[in-house]
Amino acid sequence: MSILEKHQFIERNATLLLVGSLLVVSIGGIVEIAPLFYLQNTIEKVEGMRPYSPLELAGRNIYIREGCYVCHSQMIRPFRDEVERYGHYSLAAESMYDHPFQWGSKRTGPDLARVGDRYSNEWHVQHLSRPRDVVPESIMPGYAYLKETQLKVTDVTMDLKANALVGVPYSEEMLQSAKADLAAQADPNADTAGLLARYPKAKVGDFDGNPAKLTEMDALVAYLQMLGTLVDFTTYDDATGYR
Ligand code: HEC
Repeated sequence: MSILEKHQFIERNATLLLVGSLLVVSIGGIVEIAPLFYLQNTIEKVEGMRPYSPLELAGRNIYIREGCYVCHSQMIRPFRDEVERYGHYSLAAESMYDHPFQWGSKRTGPDLARVGDRYSNEWHVQHLSRPRDVVPESIMPGYAYLKETQLKVTDVTMDLKANALVGVPYSEEMLQSAKADLAAQADPNADTAGLLARYPKAKVGDFDGNPAKLTEMDALVAYLQMLGTLVDFTTYDDATGYR
């Protein structure tokens, strides 16, 4: 039987064709699916990474709710122009606790992966409230209502637990103190020793300029101010040597 004849034989035999097709499709499937089982191995552990504090997590939820990711990416690619503009390229480990990740696919505005510490809290509040007051040519919409809206977190512990379920290492202690940690981070008079032990480098204090009220603006600015600040790149050993 020539190759052509063999092929015709398979094509004319419906069962054989079906079995053959399934075989080919499953090989393709395995090639795509098998690497996912080894995904953990591909994320290099990096010093400094920790889960989001409860207030940062609340801010992150607002970031997602408001669709900030529609205009902003959080993924600095390893190209010279990006590294010079935004800082060290993003490491896989830096989004290992992101569920869902916020890499984004569109940059109407700048990348925000390392926006933390770049501006003051006041700048963020002003910019988020009325972007054109600080950046006259900005086309970003205003979010002034965040400053007026009390931060409502119906169950912060459940929020942490949901993240723990998908692999974020929130400890029992973190879950227990979640509610207190949330309040303490934005309260200038609070004792934040415990919070900072659980969430090193967390920014504390009043964020929105109104210490009397815990607002959505507090949470969002707390989140923005920590973005990209956890890994210390003065000591990070970069195997590629590319900064
Ligand atoms: C319609 C697109 C759009 C949306 C939606 C949007 N932004 Fe922006 N954003 C921009 C543009 C354009 C700029 C650059 C001009 C400026 O600084 O205002 C910007 C700038 C910024 C900056 C300053 C970045 C830097 O490095 O200077 C921050 C921080 C920021 N946006 C946060 C947010 C947050 C938080 C949200 C959601 C609440 C959001 N943006 C929603 C378009 C957008």
